[in-house]
Amino acid sequence: MQIIQVASELTPIAKVGGLGDVLMGLSRELEWKGHDPLVIIPFYGVINADQLKEDGRKEWFETFPYGKSLKASISFYRVNGIRIGLLDTEDGYFRKRRTIYGDGDEITCFILFARAVAEWILATQRSPDVIHAHDWQTALLPALCRLYDHEKRLAKVRYLFTVHNFEYQGFCHGHDLERVGVHPDSFGTLLQDPERSCLNLVKAGLLSADYTTTVSPTYAHEVVEGIEARGLKTIVHSIQDRFEGILNGVDYSYWNPEVDHFLVERYAAHQGARVVLEAKRNNREVLSHQIGIPFRPEKPFIASVTRLVYQKGVDLLHNLFSRAEEFDIQGILLGSVPDPRTERLFAELDTKLRSEGRGAIFLMSDEPFAHRVYAAADLFVVPSIFEPCGLTQLIALKYGTTPIVRHTGGLADTIIDIDTPSASANGFCFDSPDDTSLNEAFCRALKHLREPVVREEVMLRGMLQDFSWHKPCNRYISLYQS
Ligand code: GLC
Repeated sequence: MQIIQVASELTPIAKVGGLGDVLMGLSRELEWKGHDPLVIIPFYGVINADQLKEDGRKEWFETFPYGKSLKASISFYRVNGIRIGLLDTEDGYFRKRRTIYGDGDEITCFILFARAVAEWILATQRSPDVIHAHDWQTALLPALCRLYDHEKRLAKVRYLFTVHNFEYQGFCHGHDLERVGVHPDSFGTLLQDPERSCLNLVKAGLLSADYTTTVSPTYAHEVVEGIEARGLKTIVHSIQDRFEGILNGVDYSYWNPEVDHFLVERYAAHQGARVVLEAKRNNREVLSHQIGIPFRPEKPFIASVTRLVYQKGVDLLHNLFSRAEEFDIQGILLGSVPDPRTERLFAELDTKLRSEGRGAIFLMSDEPFAHRVYAAADLFVVPSIFEPCGLTQLIALKYGTTPIVRHTGGLADTIIDIDTPSASANGFCFDSPDDTSLNEAFCRALKHLREPVVREEVMLRGMLQDFSWHKPCNRYISLYQS
């Protein structure tokens, strides 16, 4: 099958969060299973094309965003063996952008992107089997393809839409679309938000795709129940027979301590618990020296790799790490920060932790560093207020780092509390998004570390559980085919 995936992110060339990882992981698995995926993203200025393997082809076409013709192109490359196309316009609109999000004209940028992708598909007379759009940035793509397809050449295409987070719906106004020559009236009431007096791109995606997925079964259920629908409950109900949650996978060719070149010592579950724990200890020793904290292997080492935003339980993380001395632990937090207040708060926490010899905070995103953190830690904390899927808890499992998570969305689908009678128990869960509830789970986890036999068993079990793309990809394939 020929599958065109369209999104705003792609790991490793244009990654902000988990969306980029999904695009890469799912496409690689589709390719391994004999399909023909092609990922299209904008040619942002932040992409360094020198690092990409050029496939030499470039397709020119015309787009008409400002009432007159604008030349645009898709240049083809390969990344990790996957075919990708970068969309560029003659006026350099996407290349001039310094960041992927947050430039102030996001809506216009991505509407222009979606319309140009639709025009390119039609101009080059492509007839893919599937067009798979992701998140609000490309939600209008199915509707635009149908609108521009006067000769009904795409009548047989199957349109899939995946919502990675219902928090972001692409709220906008008519003029945002008109600025790039897309007239909201062409779509009737499709774009009208059901509750507010504005337009809503995700709503349009839900109603125009043939099938919509989100990124875990529990999150899908929370959306249907209205808890996480963010005003789209009635719309989701109206498409309930073509809506489901499919858990994301992890790309184990990249996130795997057995083959991880960022680690000083590699390890795998089949080597047994002793070897794994010894390797983790050595990784911790080197990391401690690198980041300038004392190496105290007798103290439990906790970690978090996150974006420091409300969704991720930023206050809970702050409070937990603040109490490192009281809990007699060490900790490391690697987090990207979008706002100055959070940055100040965590910078102060870093000073405190370092002065106590209890750990450090790094306010940035750095993937090679993240690999080392996963390998070095004993416990991994994910106190999300809501979480559509979450990838970090799955990576932590693979690295033998026991997760402590809030029981919500994809975290609830993947982490089973050790104190339940389940043969797949692999971590600790807490229910309420508050300090008391997190502390209770955290203290249970600390106690657990002092019981070597159970600890080793749970650690190895987590490392052996299969959260690869294999199963989820099969489900996507059957949705593409039905
Ligand atoms: C969004 C969600 C996260 C999910 C990711 C990939 O970032 O917040 O839970 O894992 O998308 O689907």
